[in-house]
This record gives sequence, structure tokens and C-alpha cells, in this order.
Amino acid sequence: MQISNIAVVGLQWGDEGKGKVVDTMSRLCRHVVRYCGGANAGHSVQIGDEKYALHLIPCGIFREGVVNIVGNGVAFDPQVALDELAALAARGLTLGPDRLLISSAAHVVMPWHKLQDRLNEESLGAGKIGTTVRGIGPCYADKAMRSVAIRVGDLTDADALRDRIGRIAEIKSAIFAALYDAAPVDADPIADEYVEYGRQLAPMIANTGAILRSACRNGERIMFEGGQGSLLDVDHGTYPFVTSSTVTACGVPSGAGVPPSAVGTVVGVMKAYSSRVGAGPFPSEQDNEIGECLRRRGHEYGTTTGRPRRCGWLDAFAVRYAADLSGVSELAVTLLDVLSGLDELKICTGYRLGGQTLENYDATVLAGAEPVYESMSTWPEDIALCRNFDDLPQATKAYVARVEELIGRPVTIVSVGPRREQTIVRQTQIKGLS
Ligand code: IMP
Repeated sequence: MQISNIAVVGLQWGDEGKGKVVDTMSRLCRHVVRYCGGANAGHSVQIGDEKYALHLIPCGIFREGVVNIVGNGVAFDPQVALDELAALAARGLTLGPDRLLISSAAHVVMPWHKLQDRLNEESLGAGKIGTTVRGIGPCYADKAMRSVAIRVGDLTDADALRDRIGRIAEIKSAIFAALYDAAPVDADPIADEYVEYGRQLAPMIANTGAILRSACRNGERIMFEGGQGSLLDVDHGTYPFVTSSTVTACGVPSGAGVPPSAVGTVVGVMKAYSSRVGAGPFPSEQDNEIGECLRRRGHEYGTTTGRPRRCGWLDAFAVRYAADLSGVSELAVTLLDVLSGLDELKICTGYRLGGQTLENYDATVLAGAEPVYESMSTWPEDIALCRNFDDLPQATKAYVARVEELIGRPVTIVSVGPRREQTIVRQTQIKGLS
């Protein structure tokens, strides 16, 4: 029997704990592939007492024998990737092309993208998106524009790259001067820097789509690692307060270069509550002591930017929408331990708008939506030491059961802390996991 591939997607606004879930399941896979986003992501993995924060490199790097791939759908920042590789090497993990490959068709984040991201955000004032300022939006905009884009494969032809950088820098300089009265972009140092990146990365640059399609033919299992969360998806999220790529499982085929049939079992990762960084609607936000308490207990500060995250009750209405979009078949609930000892506990089950209960989640009308809550029983016990589902307090099990009902999928993974051993796996269709 063919072993199904696995896609891991975030069902909220990112920071759901996908890194830990990918790390847990990567031992079952031959390939782990990022298919969207870029260095705006921040995936945390804890192994023993060692904590790692990854931005661009997939979370499968901690398992020997796993080939990690940065897919064509990623906005690739070579500087961040090389810094990340150097930091891992300094901690004893040296990665070569046997462990990490980068798609030649991925788009390169250039210094002018980061500059444009910052200048654009500044010019928007109070209406800003609250981006991570990693140049993600401008990089994807140039990908769609085509004539001013640079792809990873372009980094290895030094002469052509210098010419291209010179030409694009002129265009960017004219635009930035007109729009923001900014100084011209100096092409030569950028060309030197990126030629050097190309030299260092060359052994890892590959036709990764072909490698993955061949893996599909040979029955080698692939895990697709999502970045960000579904409510930040450029098409289906809370636009314009979204990121610039397709982060749901719908983005897997085009972002990795595999057919839709290769997506496999989709695991949706959700926190036991909600958090969001940056601007945009968040109906179940608790901008009060409860939100502060969740932030403190959940260490809710951005892995990439260090910004405090906005926190609130679980929005099951939004998560169900996200799960439906990605065709999620199983749920991983993370940070359940953060809810221990709260005085009250609520789940948002729907919205009311203009006196009516909304039948379907609609990301375009959230501004005036009023959340409808259901109160749940709290539990005083610390659950961080629980290793079996049956060890959890009755009220915690009831919370998980209600999540299953509201989202319409089984919760097969429960995380009660950052360590690998703080992961409870229940009956799952993922072969080899339980
Ligand atoms: P950008 O992706 O940097 O353009 O940011 C657009 C929006 O997505 C902002 O609200 C960011 O805070 C948010 N965002 C981007 N990446 C992540 C992530 O990995 N986790 C959480 N929020 C993110």
C-alpha cells in the first residue's frame, strides 16, 4: 500500500506550533518541504534543553536521513539562510546538499524588497499592515511582475546577475525616489554580496520539483511544511491584513512542484486559544487581563520580530473555515497547558453581524462581527506532565472533545509543552505515528 504524504498547515494566524508538529512527524518522512512564505516565518523546535528558532530552513533538519527542501513557492532570503546555516553549524549541525536543497525557481528577497516593505509600511501610517518587514510582499509582487525578479538559479551566473541587479536597481531607484523621496539603490555592493551568496549556495541549488515528483513515483514519503497560518493566506485570509503567499494546503502543489494528488493527509495545527501579530480583524481578541495572561503564559512574543502577540479565545468558527479550505483530516492542538488554571474559559463558536448569525465564515466582513461565545469548564491542574490522553483532567478532555465537534475533525495530537516528550499522540490515520 502507498504511504500517504503529509501536509502540515496552520489554521489560525500563524505561530500555532507547526515547528514542533513537523519535528514530531519528520521521522516518518524522507523529505520535508517548505512551500510558501519566507523568513517572515518563525518555527520553534525544542530538543532536550536546546531551543532552535528557524525562519527559512525546514524543521526536518533535526532528523538524519531527511532531505529538507526550500520549494519554488518560497521567498528566499539568502542572507537569512546562510546566517541560519552558520548558527546551526556553530551548534554542531552542519548541513550539506544531502540534508538541504533549495529550488532554483524560488524567488530571491533582495535588499530593495526589505527597503520597500519598510518604506511602504511607514507611508501607510495608521493603516499599515504590520508586516514583519522581511521584504516578503515586495518580493512576491516582483515575482508576479516578472521583469524585475531574481530567482535562486540566477545567483549562480555572476555576470548575468550583475547586469540584472544593475538594471533592476535603476528601476527601483526611480520608483523609490518618486514615491518616498529615497536615496538611490547602490547596485555594485549588492551585486558583490549576491554573487558571493550564489557561490556559497551553489551546491544546494537544485531542480527540487523534479526530485519531489520522483519521490512521489518511488513511494518516498514527503512532508509539506506550511508557514504562517490560513487566516493570513493571500486569497482566503483577512485581506489586506495577510501575507503574500498561498499558505493553506491549496498552495502545496504549486509551491512545491507536485501534483494535487500528492498532498496526502492534511494535519491542521491550532493553538488551544488564538493569537495574532500585526494589524487586522480578530473578533475573539481579549485586549484585557485575560489576553495579557495568555500572552504571559504562552510566551506570546514573535519568533521573528519579538513583537508581543495579540491574544484571545479560540475562534472555532474561523478554524473550521480554515480546516475546510485545506481539506484537513486531523487536528493537532498545541499549547493546551497554557489554559490550565484560568478563572474562565470560552470558545468562539460563531459571529453575529447586523443582528444576524453568520452561516458561513466570511473573511471580508469581519470588521463589525461580534463573536458568540460558549463557556467551558476550567481546570486547575498543571497538565505539562501528562503523557497519555487519559491522564488529562476531565474538563481538559471535554474541551478537546468540544473542539473536535466544532471543527468536525478528530484531535490526534495534543501538545502540553515545548519538549518532544510533551506530545500526546492519539489514534491517527498517519501510518507509523502512534
Ligand atoms: P509579511 O508576511 O511580513 O508581509 O506580514 C504580513 C502579515 O502576516 C503581518 O500581520 C505579519 O505579522 C503576519 N505574519 C507573517 N508571517 C507570520 C508568521 O510566520 N507568524 C505570524 N504572523 C506572520
